[in-house]
Amino acid sequence: MVQVGTPPVWSRRRVEPAEAPDRTPWRTDHPLLGCDYNPEQWPREVWQEDVRLMREVGVELVAVNVFGWAEIQPAPERFDFGRLDEVLDLLHEHGIGVNLGTGTASPPPWLTTAYPQVLPVAEDGTTRWPGGRQAWCPSSPVFRELSLELVERVASRYGRHPALRLWHVSNELGGHNALCYCDASAEAFRRWLRERYRDIEAVNQAWGTSFWSQRYGSFDEILPPRLTLSTPNPGQALDFHRFSSEELLAQHQAEAAVVRAHSPLPVTTNLMVTAHQRDMDYWDWAPHLDVIANDHYLDHRLADPAAELAFCADLTRGLAQGRPWILMEHATGAVNWQPVNIAKQPGELLRGSVAHLARGADALCFFQWRASRQGAEKFHSAMLPHAGTDSATWRETIELGTILRSLPDLAGTQVSAQVALVFSYENWWAADAPNRPSELVVHLEQVHQAYAALRAAGVGVDVVRPGAALEGYRVVVVPHLYLVRDSEAAVVADFVADGGHALVTFFSGIVDEDDRVRPGGYPGAFRDLLGVTVEEVHPLAEGVVLPLEGTSGGTVRRWTERVRLDGARAHRRLGAGPLAGHPAVTVHEHGTGRAWYAAADLDPDALRALVEEVLAGAGVDPEPGAGPLVEVVRRRSVPAGSGPDFLFVLNHGPDPVLVPARGTEVCTGQDVDPTLEVPAGAVRIVRLAAEEQS
Ligand code: GLA
Repeated sequence: MVQVGTPPVWSRRRVEPAEAPDRTPWRTDHPLLGCDYNPEQWPREVWQEDVRLMREVGVELVAVNVFGWAEIQPAPERFDFGRLDEVLDLLHEHGIGVNLGTGTASPPPWLTTAYPQVLPVAEDGTTRWPGGRQAWCPSSPVFRELSLELVERVASRYGRHPALRLWHVSNELGGHNALCYCDASAEAFRRWLRERYRDIEAVNQAWGTSFWSQRYGSFDEILPPRLTLSTPNPGQALDFHRFSSEELLAQHQAEAAVVRAHSPLPVTTNLMVTAHQRDMDYWDWAPHLDVIANDHYLDHRLADPAAELAFCADLTRGLAQGRPWILMEHATGAVNWQPVNIAKQPGELLRGSVAHLARGADALCFFQWRASRQGAEKFHSAMLPHAGTDSATWRETIELGTILRSLPDLAGTQVSAQVALVFSYENWWAADAPNRPSELVVHLEQVHQAYAALRAAGVGVDVVRPGAALEGYRVVVVPHLYLVRDSEAAVVADFVADGGHALVTFFSGIVDEDDRVRPGGYPGAFRDLLGVTVEEVHPLAEGVVLPLEGTSGGTVRRWTERVRLDGARAHRRLGAGPLAGHPAVTVHEHGTGRAWYAAADLDPDALRALVEEVLAGAGVDPEPGAGPLVEVVRRRSVPAGSGPDFLFVLNHGPDPVLVPARGTEVCTGQDVDPTLEVPAGAVRIVRLAAEEQS
């Protein structure tokens, strides 16, 4: 039997949120429309037209000074706030609120020329040069000092400006510079490790350095995981991710502290809850933000972009602990950073925006107000495109503004769900590390598959971090949770023992927080709960598809396992291949609840059928009319009955659909009773009649 090492002294560092008793919480009494505004790219005459058109469309929250550093500090000893003063005053005159950037997102050329040591260094030791954006190392003491000096100037000048509604720290922290391997980062990484482990032997244990002669004699010998000849130590790589996320959070915290000393207004930063960002552990970040704000862009390369959007919105709401949040950026049309930038179809702008609204956003903002004429983003869509106001984009944006103005009582209502889905950034880092059993299995795809099946089944989902309390849910779904702490797995087991239903998917529970395999068979931490032991995993070669046994059909691809039943029963079995007849799906009665295990990568229809069975067994009813192409989501008043509830229906399909509802439809003003018709591609929002509220 393999001896599991003693756990490190340090278990999990949690930075407590700053005490901020006198802060103004972010709140809006009606949903807001907003945008990023870069007036520094335009002559003053254009500003007048900008504010006029902003009022026309209903823009009420404008992010400025996001990339303002070079403008407001053109030289080391020179600050020039003239234009920014004018812009804030102009917006205020027109009743438009400001979401003020601290301006630190991108250092100006004078700074990187004078202090080249702030430039980030890639894994292979090469410098990332200025000329793009965000060319700074998160651990650079010089960058920290100069950026805070700027924030001090900005916050002291504008902290009580009447236009100010919100503070916007930096921009998409870690978007380009999350992992830096320079000498300053190496030093900071060693400091971080000393604080975490105290003793070098604890590092050796956590990283398993008796392997490949990697044992460290002192902290001074440790480097960031720079490019190696063979696979680097996985424990080192995992800790480097944790460290890097905390370094960027520390930059946020440092800027926020300066701002808070000058201003009572809420402070946030725009997170990147998308398929493209996995470097920051936002579960750790969220408690430090006064309101959660997210940037989301549709990616047409994904299998199901609308489902990915819904997943990100539900995860953002999870980070917000269910409270209303801000969609800080999304696009009216195409972006500019995909190989082919697909324009939105008629109706898609509205569907995309309203999807975020339905899932808890109280403000919808776009990047950006006016399409740039120059620079790398000149072909990125905007509210005001190059074509001007005589454009489909402008007309659809006007329509969105009108819808938001018809929903004054929506703000503050919340979404609730009976199903929780467990998602973890540090698991993502560990699960996708090199030298795993199959590179065809990609963690986020597994999460998306599980989420898409739930969405297609028509149920609402809350995304939660491992270890989160599960009271109040009926079902918990645990997709591909390779790395999990014993205490976190125990929360799922206790939930089931007390009557909950769980669906765990393959290669979960395998390692502890140090990426150390649990001996005795997979799925390690979930073995007893699931009543199975997996002797060996059997990934399938690319293109291999095996049928499931039985008449209900279904196939598996990419992954199978040699499963031994230890109390569970086989629900579906493999119909062919070397493991023909072995369980592919199992079910185990545990305590007063039920634990399901998908031991293979089921095709989407088979997974959806399984999910529907799990939900039915747990008594979770789908929203009537909901399906893969039709989203039906409710926002309820809090406390219940204190105001109207709203039913959102988004028809992504090619045909009109009917959904049962009674109340008043917001986009058309029509009374609805007993069914709502939603045309192909349209959105409808019903302010529900009192007796329809649940
Ligand atoms: C990010 C940034 C914006 C802009 C958009 C383009 O979200 O924050 O400045 O670059 O991407 O999609």
